[in-house]
Amino acid sequence: MKDRNCFYVTTPIYYVNDIPHIGHAYTTVAADVLARFWRLMGKEVFFLTGTDEHGQKVEQAAQRKGLSPKEHADIMVKNFQHLWKELNISNNAFIRTTDEEHKTIVQELLSELWKKGEIVKRTYTGWYCIPDERFWTEKELVDGKCPDCGRAVEYISEDNYFFLMSRYQERLIRHIEDNPYYILPETRKNEVLGFLKNQPLGDLCISRPKSRLSWGIELPFDRDYVTYVWFDALVNYYSATKYLAPQGIGWWPADHHLIGKDILMTHAVYWSTMLMALELPLPGNIFAHGWWTVEGKKMSKSLGNVVDPFQVIKEFGVDQFRYFLLREVPFGLDGDFSKDAMIQRINTDLANDLGNLLQRTLSMITKYFNGLIPEPEDIEKDLKTIAEGALEKIERNLTYLSFQKVLEEIWQIVGAANKYIDSSQPWALAKDPSKLGRLRTVLYSAAEALRFTGYYLMPFMPGASRRLLEQMGITPSNPNIKEEARWGRLKPGTVIKKIEPLFPRIIPTPARLRRL
Ligand code: ME8
Repeated sequence: MKDRNCFYVTTPIYYVNDIPHIGHAYTTVAADVLARFWRLMGKEVFFLTGTDEHGQKVEQAAQRKGLSPKEHADIMVKNFQHLWKELNISNNAFIRTTDEEHKTIVQELLSELWKKGEIVKRTYTGWYCIPDERFWTEKELVDGKCPDCGRAVEYISEDNYFFLMSRYQERLIRHIEDNPYYILPETRKNEVLGFLKNQPLGDLCISRPKSRLSWGIELPFDRDYVTYVWFDALVNYYSATKYLAPQGIGWWPADHHLIGKDILMTHAVYWSTMLMALELPLPGNIFAHGWWTVEGKKMSKSLGNVVDPFQVIKEFGVDQFRYFLLREVPFGLDGDFSKDAMIQRINTDLANDLGNLLQRTLSMITKYFNGLIPEPEDIEKDLKTIAEGALEKIERNLTYLSFQKVLEEIWQIVGAANKYIDSSQPWALAKDPSKLGRLRTVLYSAAEALRFTGYYLMPFMPGASRRLLEQMGITPSNPNIKEEARWGRLKPGTVIKKIEPLFPRIIPTPARLRRL
């Protein structure tokens, strides 16, 4: 049984045949924001990411380098682990499908399905795309080629094991229709329903003969075969809860599987029906986000425009990159990456709006109150309402993974505080000794709005938000956001620290605008 006070979120496990790019960073940052937010809300969180290390793609990549698949995976996995460190990702565990424990669990589940008659042996005759490791029917081919990658397919005839996925077609349709939250966004849900309603669902070939591919998990009931890579990979979400998560807590089912739109069908159809056959509960939600293009073009190695996240972090900063990814486009839609757009966001939202608010508030507190947070005379009700009321909206929007709306909500506070300073004119109040009480209220309230902003931004920009709070003399340690989201928690007399620009403005130079 799922524990109600725990939250479990996953990313896809990435193939080790390639190096990480902006797409991998995107899904993982989004999952990190959720994990950090629910921790701040007092939940016990298990956040899982990892790597997909079996199958033909990985075997071939290793062969090209003259390494064994495992040696190759051991090298490549470090790129992902290194990137997650650089991106400040707070995953609780990192699964590799070559983990012995994972392999054992995959075999246990296969045995269970075999015994229950959910897997059968059949002769398959038909079309097979080697690079994609997928079988296709004649009807599915496009101009005689693989409908997915456009490459040539081979006609093969071989004995294989099939998971009887077709049995679950009706039940899956019902589940998706009865649970509108199961597949999001709605357009993706409709895509899956369209697919399921318009053709009979086939059975899934879950084996590969070792004579053709040896790099995989051996079938427990036939040593001449290995497991199809997707069957092995999808099980990671469940197997990790058995050996990588803290035990004694009901983690399964996951709250969210975050994925890109490219792998929606494997999750919505294969994984859901696998769980049904295993009589395990289905996840709460599968969210398929959109794809990034680069300056309007598809990102691809052949175009040489693959965005290297290490490079972006080096040039613009990790929090700036995290912010951009989630602010620029609504999660679920496609987005376009360019240095121009990134510079624009940094200079406008971060340097101008937020950076400026911090800088001027703290400078005035330094100037007029010797760097001590002043005691307010009054409560600024409007600011209080906006700041306190934001938490509920943040929670609601994050439940639907509307990261962009959450950031807009937080910027409402920033905007209101900037406007408040402009209209209250503390620099004028400071000239009139009879207005000292009002001056104290104004600067206290601006600082208090900043404190809320700092806490609300923690999931998105963990480094910058901490520095923001530290400049205000606050050292957040294991905070609970519900407690922090109360107006008046900022203690008068707090000594502010050295003021440093949080987000330096970026001057666009020709070198900067060159493609990454
Ligand atoms: O598919 N924009 O791994 P993978 C946004 N191992 N996101 C992108 C992207 C882009 N242009 N390109 C890739 C696999 N992604 C399997 C998954 S899960 C049980 C097995 C992201 O290394 C997006 O999250 O090809 C996508 O789903 C993932 O990278 C695919 O990573």
